[in-house]
Amino acid sequence: MKIVILDTPEQVASYGADRFADQLRHKPGSILGLATGSTPIALYEELISRVQRGVLSFALASTFNLDEYLGLESTHPQSYRYFMNEHLFRHLDIDLANTAVPDGAARDPMVACEAYEHAIQQAGGIDLQLLGIGRNGHIGFNEPSSSLASRTRVKTLTPDTVKANQRFFDEGEFQPHLSLTMGIGTIMEARHILLLATGESKAMAVRATVEGPLAARCPASILQMHPSATLVLDRAAASQLDDVAFYQYIEQENQRLPGSR
Ligand code: F6R
Repeated sequence: MKIVILDTPEQVASYGADRFADQLRHKPGSILGLATGSTPIALYEELISRVQRGVLSFALASTFNLDEYLGLESTHPQSYRYFMNEHLFRHLDIDLANTAVPDGAARDPMVACEAYEHAIQQAGGIDLQLLGIGRNGHIGFNEPSSSLASRTRVKTLTPDTVKANQRFFDEGEFQPHLSLTMGIGTIMEARHILLLATGESKAMAVRATVEGPLAARCPASILQMHPSATLVLDRAAASQLDDVAFYQYIEQENQRLPGSR
């Protein structure tokens, strides 16, 4: 795992945008895995700004989102499809037909999950997968105890995750407790993984991911097994790590190598 520790969330977003730009420069028709939540918003703003300045293009790219609430139509303001359209897609030069989010309104969610896996494979697999991390170490909606080999499927959210996401729903509004999510096995097949974490609330999950044992208790710890996973952290998210000085030393050394990112 490559651990990058930056001073501010803005720097985390900018680093992430550089990584996306590198990927698209190298392969304009990249298959990108995307996430929702608070963490990627600043990164998405930076990507939008670059596209609008004409220095970046998603015209040939395709995307697959990690997850979606089960029971919400794509037009529901809290659906992840709606989130992606509003926060990213409609501001980019991407063809909306080339953006995929699991179908939260599917009649048969199991069939929809299988179709999603198939579509990722048909597209040639994900080149770069963006991840956030839950306070309990979840990635996508793969909560603790998820099989580390799981595929796209229906998952129950933990009460903690439901509570953390309550802020997006109006009081008394239906809030789903089920989701469709790429599995951990699905995520691990991405060629490159970029996990962003900002803020102190993520510090214990980051510690368990980087320095803890590989365990279903912390789904993100599986990234220890990925050949190309980068964790980009602000100081607060890195605050519980034991070996900060070592990670910074390695990063400084890496900077000296050409094409290091
Ligand atoms: C969202 C997702 C989740 C979030 C995680 C962190 O598509 O897959 O795993 O990345 O819950 O959410 P934020 O960024 O809101 O703290």
